[in-house]
Amino acid sequence: MQRVFSGIQPTGIPHLGNYLGAIRNWVTLQKDHDCLFCLVDMHSLTMPWTPEALREQTLGTTACLLASGIDPTRLYNQSAVSAHARLGWIFNCVSRLGWLNRMTQFKDKAGKNRENHSAGLYVYPNLMAADILAFHATRVPVGDDQRQHLELANDIAQKFNHDMGVEFFPQIEGLIPPNAARVMSLRDGSKKMSKSDPSAQSRIVLNDTADDIALKIRRARTDSEPLPSEEAGLEGRPEARNLITIYAAMSDKSMADVLSEFGGQGFGSFKQSLADLLVETLAPVANEARHLLDDKEHLLQVLRKGAERARAVSDPIVDEAERLVGFLR
Ligand code: AMP
Ligand code: TRP
Repeated sequence: MQRVFSGIQPTGIPHLGNYLGAIRNWVTLQKDHDCLFCLVDMHSLTMPWTPEALREQTLGTTACLLASGIDPTRLYNQSAVSAHARLGWIFNCVSRLGWLNRMTQFKDKAGKNRENHSAGLYVYPNLMAADILAFHATRVPVGDDQRQHLELANDIAQKFNHDMGVEFFPQIEGLIPPNAARVMSLRDGSKKMSKSDPSAQSRIVLNDTADDIALKIRRARTDSEPLPSEEAGLEGRPEARNLITIYAAMSDKSMADVLSEFGGQGFGSFKQSLADLLVETLAPVANEARHLLDDKEHLLQVLRKGAERARAVSDPIVDEAERLVGFLR
């Protein structure tokens, strides 16, 4: 059986992009794959954080994932499993500066003020490679924005194998959904929906109430043209395309089917249908997440047990990687 690994940063509440790009697919994959899902709290230190918010958001994200249907036995937080840090260090010494310099996510996140960012933000993709390869996972369900990081992980695995003269780390394959792999901001169709966008109106989050969802969709930016009947008509209309993409993904319909249903209409009734669709799926998730957050001790227990299981898989693999590089025990 293929082993599946994926991660999400416990920085803020998961949003619709996380749900469609990642979480929903994790729930499907866990039915017939050996899966591990990780709250990558070590990655959350790569941008400014406060300990209190990190603690709270780790539990909040745990609740959202469980409420979305993630199997509790497969969930844990990264910092509780030392294999990540151990292999992450080895990979810092395998990966090349030239490779990291090409990472667009670093450039986006660091922006103009590069010198002032942490070294952690720069080596982040090395740790992400370690996350996956510490489990010899071969399938990684992520959104489109992680494509370049997965290519880097394969370069690292290959260089490690080559330099140590072994066939130890497998090649990995990203599982990027055909639809909604990049959900865009509701305020600006050229920016991806993101936890770090200062505008809460730009994203639907997994603890929004039905009213919040309806309001955010009603206020979502659009243009003044009616919806087109065919996909070609979405050219140059990123906001319209984004809302249609979300509708198609949430209803498991093709873009063509959605456009033939709503083509020629204004945004008013389409937005109403989209809001109804989102509320139907997401409002029960939010309710369940709120309920789960009433028992924080239970959530902690879930993470502790998950970490124990994860360690049993990763420790022997990382022990062997350490032996291969020449560490004595
Ligand atoms: P992050 O919130 O950056 O930890 O991302 C967790 C997962 O959600 C990753 O697999 C991302 O690729 C995916 N993801 C994040 N933002 C989006 C988005 N706007 N659209 C689709 N997938 C996304
Ligand atoms: N870098 C991913 C993101 O920001 C999160 C992540 C960390 C991840 N480690 C991973 C995803 C390993 C898949 C596999 O979205």
